[in-house]
Amino acid sequence: MKNTLLLTVYILLFVGCQTTKSQNQEIEQRIDMLLKQMTIEEKVGQMNQYNGFWNVTGPAPEGGSAEKKYEHLRKGWVGSMLSVRGVKEVRAVQKIAVEETRLGIPLIIGFDVIHGYKTLSPIPLAEAASWDLEAIKKSAETAAAEASASGINWTFGPMVDISRDARWGRVMEGAGEDPFLGSKVAEARVKGFQGDDLSAVNTIAACAKHFAAYGFSESGKEYNTVDIGTSTLHNIVLPPFKAAVDAGVKTLMNSFNEINGIPSTGSSYLQRDILKDAWHFDGFVVSDWGSLNEMITWGYAKDTREAAKITVTAGSDMDMEGYVYIEELAQLVKDGVIKEYLLDDAVRRILRVKFELGLFDNPYKYCDEAREKETIGNPKNHEAVLDMAKKSIVLLKNKNHLLPLKKEGQKIALIGTLAADKNSPLGSWRIAADDNTAVSVLEGMQHYKGNILTYAKGADVTTEKAEFVHEVKINTTDKSGFAEALAVAKQSDVVVMVLGENGFQTGEARSRTNLLLPGVQQELLEEVYKVNPNIVLVLNNGRPLAINWADEHIPTIVEAWQLGTETGNAVAQVLYGDYNPSGKLPMTFPRNVGQVPIYYNYKNTGRPTNKDNNVFWSHYTDVEKTPLYPFGYGLSYTTFEYSNLKLEGNSFKIGDDINVSVTLKNTGKVTGKEVVQLYIRDLYASITRPVKELKGFELVELKAGETKTIHFTLNNKTLGFYDNDGKYIVEPGDFKVFVGGSSIASLEADFTLN
Ligand code: BGC
Repeated sequence: MKNTLLLTVYILLFVGCQTTKSQNQEIEQRIDMLLKQMTIEEKVGQMNQYNGFWNVTGPAPEGGSAEKKYEHLRKGWVGSMLSVRGVKEVRAVQKIAVEETRLGIPLIIGFDVIHGYKTLSPIPLAEAASWDLEAIKKSAETAAAEASASGINWTFGPMVDISRDARWGRVMEGAGEDPFLGSKVAEARVKGFQGDDLSAVNTIAACAKHFAAYGFSESGKEYNTVDIGTSTLHNIVLPPFKAAVDAGVKTLMNSFNEINGIPSTGSSYLQRDILKDAWHFDGFVVSDWGSLNEMITWGYAKDTREAAKITVTAGSDMDMEGYVYIEELAQLVKDGVIKEYLLDDAVRRILRVKFELGLFDNPYKYCDEAREKETIGNPKNHEAVLDMAKKSIVLLKNKNHLLPLKKEGQKIALIGTLAADKNSPLGSWRIAADDNTAVSVLEGMQHYKGNILTYAKGADVTTEKAEFVHEVKINTTDKSGFAEALAVAKQSDVVVMVLGENGFQTGEARSRTNLLLPGVQQELLEEVYKVNPNIVLVLNNGRPLAINWADEHIPTIVEAWQLGTETGNAVAQVLYGDYNPSGKLPMTFPRNVGQVPIYYNYKNTGRPTNKDNNVFWSHYTDVEKTPLYPFGYGLSYTTFEYSNLKLEGNSFKIGDDINVSVTLKNTGKVTGKEVVQLYIRDLYASITRPVKELKGFELVELKAGETKTIHFTLNNKTLGFYDNDGKYIVEPGDFKVFVGGSSIASLEADFTLN
């Protein structure tokens, strides 16, 4: 019986593989046929992407106009549009492409579905703090369901840029500082967006961005130069992109930065040698907004003609709102400067994704008004983002057990403009979400009726209304609300203060040189503390902040990021203990901005400690060199104890599986979840290795008093590293294994690899 079953499974698998193979063959044949019919201009058209609305994420290029875009659409000179949204609008542009052009090739419709479409999940950095890969995948699925119901079939996400620099505003959009966690999250997001079947009506093509090293912009300044060594490139920057490619991501976006003197958009090394040749990526690469033109301002191309030549040769397949390909490519081919096969390669890649999405079979498949109405804002989506929001919260400190709050008989002061803000929690990437649609913390806490809740603003964060395209430069100095806040705090048992950044103070082009609480919020915190020290500080922010004073004085600190549409409900449920927090930081929190870049997987240096008791060791003279909160750190309303770290032996051969186990006990009084983290250290190698590297984690739920043995396996996939040529190697040598609830993981064991 068993054998018959197995045989059936094999036959099905075989038939399945054959079908996919023949489907792929059919797609390639259909592409061949199309390519034969296409003029050079039509081929260039497929490589041309226009934005639907002006000034969405960048300046409108000179000479560009809506009329010209429509004219090009009608000629079949546009392969994709971005930021057109809503069934009606998408249908209108698709209709032109399909019904009015000579070949009727459908458009692929792109949109920045970064952490949800209309119903927003937490910002991606916050989601990564959950370390819950299933939940992260589910969040991307929900986002894909809403976006696809609105006519969209391609998202510009996930952003998989690793960053160690909290000054960079876009850290909110990634998964933090670690390539292992970053790779797992990248995979989960790609699978969530694309599902098992890209041609299904509720899945969309994903786009891993920004290729590459954008997160290493010098001094955290947006769009800045990147100059990093090959070891960092191969071991830190590239792994999440590789993971996305391995997970089947259909597209990549290149980046605004130059890397070691070459703008990424024009880098053959990145796009041809690594991505398309070494990794066998068969999808396409879209440029970032106008980044082809920016090669001129970088000083890498003389003019748009040269920019087009460089980028098409380097493997940038589609020009996002840059007008470079559409204006230059056809002539370059006709002049014999570039060969037509470069266009054929790019167009084949673009058409392949369109075929895989099923757009050729039904170009209007994402244009169903009834589905749009039913899906967008569906209560199920709210449930999903609420679940994700609770999982993303990190408890940083809970001295005196101020949390969970008592549900009855308490006078609670709620202070801070962000506590009542229904806009800021949506973050800065929320193009399709309506303003002021988040549940505020105030509204969330009002659901708990057993206490007396009094709200006082205290102080604004900024002087002006923050918006997507406008810069918020001025943090307020107005302290006129302090008196009311102090009066309310004085009369209360507990003060909940919601402080942090406005949602538009992080994100693209929102770099900061100061990581303190903006405006007069720090002063407000200190003043309130003088009248009532029973403070629960709830942070709303899109990056690690330097909150040294708060850590020293405030008994309870909760990192609540920008949690999206259901923010207030998630925060209230955690504060009241209806949800036990289990998030862990995906990025190190510094003591002050001068420590940045600060990250857990640093190299040891030749003088790591002050063993000789003199000044000549690697440290600062004015602040400890350790972070305020390390990577992987986060508390719970219960406590966990780690013991019994065991390896099956202490000497292994390269290629062996090395089994590691550890015992985890919930030593507190309530059920809780813990992210068990495993790190290694390769003690000596042909290229120096970090003091710790995350190589495994598991999210474990235990009832009070419960004990569980957790198993990990180390092998060639996790014990090696990339050499300076980008070759993955595993070397013999001595290793340490650490296990614990943060990167400080203190249980230790040793083994040798022969
Ligand atoms: C951003 C990309 C984004 C694109 C389209 C650019 O400014 O860097 O991440 O996908 O705009 O909106």
